[in-house]
Amino acid sequence: MIASKAPVTVGVFDSGLGGLSIMGAIRRVMPEADYAYCCDNLNFPYGTKSEAEVIAAAEKVTSLFFDTTHFDVLVIACNTASVLALESIRKNLPIPIIGVVPAVKPAAQASKTKVIGVLATPVTIRRPYLDSLIKNFAAECRVIKVGSSKLVTLAEEKIRRRVGQEALDLQEIRIEVEPIVAEAKVGLDQLVLGCTHFPLLEDELRQVIPPTVNFVDSGSADHRLPIERKAEA
Ligand code: DGL
Repeated sequence: MIASKAPVTVGVFDSGLGGLSIMGAIRRVMPEADYAYCCDNLNFPYGTKSEAEVIAAAEKVTSLFFDTTHFDVLVIACNTASVLALESIRKNLPIPIIGVVPAVKPAAQASKTKVIGVLATPVTIRRPYLDSLIKNFAAECRVIKVGSSKLVTLAEEKIRRRVGQEALDLQEIRIEVEPIVAEAKVGLDQLVLGCTHFPLLEDELRQVIPPTVNFVDSGSADHRLPIERKAEA
């Protein structure tokens, strides 16, 4: 009997197209895998919803995704859904479920000034989970937390109408990140992009945030998934 390896299929879920930033990072380390992407257009954006609404939507759509599509592992490529619904999705589905969390730990480790920022959706910013990440991994840092849903909508717009056709209004972006820019002038040196939509706006954010600030996102973490599915011989 010859056992051959079939490629793993990775399911990727987000409220919108932000999860593409995570899927891109996974593909760089697992180019041989197959991918299935699902986004919850109906309930987008999650960041302005109540916690109960986000949990109900994420559970329902991931179950539907699982029932209708084959994949071996599911990545919840959404910080908002991960901090709220990861545990219940794990209970619902009989496959490995991997979440993403704001990259507070690598940002704190890289910070020389020990002043870091976290930019995420308002829901993620409010969660005690973020406070515990900060307590456990950035206790020595001053952390500036900024919630923005406007940036999520702008990132989604940018991707949907395809980059470059019409530039986004940088002034709108500048207003959203004003507290980060102010802190950058007095030492903030790392910014956690704690929403998977925000790496899609990296070029625009780079134009309004001083170059002394390094961006850290969840896609930069190690996403190697050591899961193989054996093909039937
Ligand atoms: N992309 C999601 C995140 O990482 C949420 C965007 C939204 O739907 O508000 O938090």
